Amino acid sequence: MEQPITAQADESALVAAFEARIAAGESIEPKDWMPERYRKQLVRMMSQHAHSEVVGMLPEGNWITRAPSLRRKMSLIAKVQDEAGHGLYIYCGTETLGVDRHELLEQLLDGRAKYSSIFNYPTLSWADMGVIGWLVDGAAIVNQTILAKTSYGPYARAMVRICKEENFHKRQGYEICATLANGTPAQRAMLQEAVDRIWWPALMMFGPSDTDSPNSAELLKWRVKRKTNDELRQRFVNLTVPQAIAIGLTLPDPDLRFDESTGNWEFGEIDWTEFFQVIKGEGPCNRERLAARNQAHADGAWVREAAAAHAAKQQRSSTQAA
Ligand SMILES: [Fe+2]
Ligand SMILES: [Fe+2]
Repeated sequence: MEQPITAQADESALVAAFEARIAAGESIEPKDWMPERYRKQLVRMMSQHAHSEVVGMLPEGNWITRAPSLRRKMSLIAKVQDEAGHGLYIYCGTETLGVDRHELLEQLLDGRAKYSSIFNYPTLSWADMGVIGWLVDGAAIVNQTILAKTSYGPYARAMVRICKEENFHKRQGYEICATLANGTPAQRAMLQEAVDRIWWPALMMFGPSDTDSPNSAELLKWRVKRKTNDELRQRFVNLTVPQAIAIGLTLPDPDLRFDESTGNWEFGEIDWTEFFQVIKGEGPCNRERLAARNQAHADGAWVREAAAAHAAKQQRSSTQAA
């Protein structure tokens, strides 16, 4: 007599098949079966990522009107606009997992959602535009290059295009830094001051240390993540220290030293108390950023209404034509 197949046995067979596909390096597509945890983890990660792109427009948008030349203004506008596009690709990606982006936006606007801690720091001088492009977009590239190999197809594909644009962001930032580094003593001092402020928050962008990262093991198992937070952070430091040296900058870490045996630039202890404070909403600009995003959302209401009215009109005329 045949044994009745329980729902549980059924589920574990599906999980086994799913994990075998991931182990074989296949990508998971929207219509494929996936464990609910996998879907939830992706929605969490991708929505935090999309929010970070959108909130990331605020600190730099702040300097568009004060860019020192037309060329700088054009590239800063293009960069900020790219970040809006990145947010849109990734919100689209979350919709392939069955979430409505309005729901995610609501979570951002009412303060329930998280986004990258770095955007809760102020942008105090023009040099910040250089240092953010160089360090913050540079850190994003390290993260996102690996995410381009993530197991979920739509997320991986969005990253390929995003990384190309991030490269432009990093270059325009580093070019600003290199120009200031070759400038007057006052310009060099302004640049060094920005580096001193932004270096440690940039290292925090990779998230908590592996020993303190509750989601990491599961994300690595399902190849959503391909490297740990600490591995990515080390890679970023190794890439960035020579770039700082090349333009005569000092990084604000007395423990920074090259280790011949590992080939790594060893660095000092990150202030995790500060990191968790910023994550909890107590950073220098959390309230300001959220208020600015809410204001921008309210100011854009007429655009959304007009777009919806236009889409409805188009649909009416196409049904009439049919
Ligand atoms: Fe971006
Ligand atoms: Fe960027």
